[in-house]
Amino acid sequence: MTFLTPPKLAAAGLLLLAGVISSCQHDPFIPDGWVPPIDPPVDSPGQPLDPCDPDSVYFTNTILPLLNSSCAIPGCHDAGTAEEGIILSSYSLIINTGEIEPGDPSESKVFEAITETDPDKVMPPPGSGVPPLTPEQIMDIFTWIQQGALNNGCDGCDTTAVTFSGSIFPLVQTNCTGCHSGSSPQGGLSLTNYAQISAAANSGILMNSLNGTGGIVPMPFNQPTLSDCAKRTVQIWIEDGAPNN
Ligand code: HEC
Repeated sequence: MTFLTPPKLAAAGLLLLAGVISSCQHDPFIPDGWVPPIDPPVDSPGQPLDPCDPDSVYFTNTILPLLNSSCAIPGCHDAGTAEEGIILSSYSLIINTGEIEPGDPSESKVFEAITETDPDKVMPPPGSGVPPLTPEQIMDIFTWIQQGALNNGCDGCDTTAVTFSGSIFPLVQTNCTGCHSGSSPQGGLSLTNYAQISAAANSGILMNSLNGTGGIVPMPFNQPTLSDCAKRTVQIWIEDGAPNN
């Protein structure tokens, strides 16, 4: 023990401490065999998404809304209840607590649960009030896992068939007509029929109000702006000449 003089002891202690600290830094709470999920576009706000590929199943477009409405609900797998420790309300929780094996649906706990043949084990539980998943929904989850269980999303805005009656009128009715109708419409502007809406389109105030440009107060007034898809739909209709179709 002659070589462990006090200064050397102190140095050894420091080394040990450094080892402990660095092992803490490099060893957070990651379960064995866990591979960091790939986080492509969805977590980078402002980055445009690619158009939807009909052969792919996307997390944010299909899987998250499905799990949110059928599983991540109070009393079941929301964060507050966390039945069996399983929380299905966000990507990383779905992957980790739902024990998803990217590329391998049959080894993934969520997929096993929704395809379980034992009525006492299948999810959602029969009689729980949550309807059973449809074969299409089960297939979507299968395909998403098989395709790598990515945190992906796509731009599902369909602007191929924009019409006044099918696209613009319903959009305006939902978002604008409440304030822009009646005997004293807001801003002195009525938006209740084709003549009024196309006039606003052709004068430029319709698009300016949606974008908050041209000195016009952003619309809908004091509310979040419309989605990019909705704005693009209106833009396409105006570029087509705002037809009454
Ligand atoms: C909650 C009520 C409300 C909703 C919903 C609303 N607006 Fe407005 N709108 C207003 C008010 C208030 C003004 C007047 C704002 C001002 O000038 O300060 C206005 C003004 C406008 C103007 C400017 C009129 C002008 O001649 O200057 C346009 C264009 C317009 N709105 C379009 C829309 C469209 C399009 C929608 C739907 C996407 C919409 N608004 C939804 C309340 C609303």
